[in-house]
Amino acid sequence: MSTFRTAVVRTPGGPEAIEIIEVPVVEPGPGQVRVEIAAAPVDPVDLATAGGMFHELGLIHQSEHTGLGWEFAGTVAAAGPGVDLPLGSRVAGFVGGYDRDYGAYAEQLVLPASDVALVPEDLDLVTASTVPLNGLTAAQLVDLLGDGEGRRLLVTGAAGMVGGYVLVLAQERGWRVTGSARAEDEAFVRGLGAEFTTAATPGWDAVADCAARQEHAVALVRDGGLFVGVWPGIRPASERGITVDAVDAQPDGARLAGLLDAAARGHLPARVHAVVPLDDVATAHREFAKGGVRGRYVIQP
Ligand SMILES: NC(=O)c1ccc[n+]([C@@H]2O[C@H](COP(=O)([O-])OP(=O)(O)OC[C@H]3O[C@@H](n4cnc5c(N)ncnc54)[C@H](OP(=O)(O)O)[C@@H]3O)[C@@H](O)[C@H]2O)c1
Repeated sequence: MSTFRTAVVRTPGGPEAIEIIEVPVVEPGPGQVRVEIAAAPVDPVDLATAGGMFHELGLIHQSEHTGLGWEFAGTVAAAGPGVDLPLGSRVAGFVGGYDRDYGAYAEQLVLPASDVALVPEDLDLVTASTVPLNGLTAAQLVDLLGDGEGRRLLVTGAAGMVGGYVLVLAQERGWRVTGSARAEDEAFVRGLGAEFTTAATPGWDAVADCAARQEHAVALVRDGGLFVGVWPGIRPASERGITVDAVDAQPDGARLAGLLDAAARGHLPARVHAVVPLDDVATAHREFAKGGVRGRYVIQP
């Protein structure tokens, strides 16, 4: 029987709880592909999963183990009935949902073909792997913001992965965008065409809270304005007539294709901090948790 290696948590407890296990290869069913993973970034959601946040919220019920890793890039190793992607196609995507036994920190992954997109030729797979989750989160967050029509938007966590993409995509929808980040992030934020602040004061038409500042970010919205957060399971309370919403990213291969194309053209800031082998995933989690990292640690199985 052929097997593959994959990273999981049985009892959550931070990086020390991550185990690499060997499991049987699964063939893709109708409409599915099996992807040989080339790269899988470490995202905040992975730290939260390993730390038990989603178990505590009642969103994870796996009895054996929970898979880590949401987004990836790789090549199609097998295609199920009804899938017209040739073997060897370079693809990227993300696995939706918290409650699953396997994730993208793995040598292989089976998922719906409609959740993946082809990677443009001039985009390497490591860089491409950093786009699916955070690019689609940003795009779907901007959907919730709607058209800006010249209104003023504050983006917290503007130097982060989601925040950086929101800076670009919100301007395309007509928002006058200001990014809030550390002083050393000013060139990055302004380089994407946004205004910059290290200490936002209240009064914004809308706040995209990509730093998950929650009620502190709601306080920056003007009366009757709009707040869009990034933690759908823990929404801050509304106040002063403010509409409170939160993005809950969903896989979308067709839309991802456009985001990968934008990244390949340098229009979206896909960033890699370091590439690490699967066996060093716990170290990558520890380093990422320290904060201040720009770009992703990317696991290479
Ligand atoms: N709902 C969904 O579907 C969904 C999907 C993807 C991501 N998310 C969430 O979206 C958030 C952003 O993700 P990401 O991948 O963009 O993370 P990231 O790349 O780590 O960026 C987060 C940014 O926020 C900044 N930040 C964090 N705490 C801050 C604070 N107290 N004050 C000011 N700045 C602060 C960080 O700055 P420093 O590094 O300097 O601290 C960093 O620049 C995470 O909470 C993630 O879980 C949600």
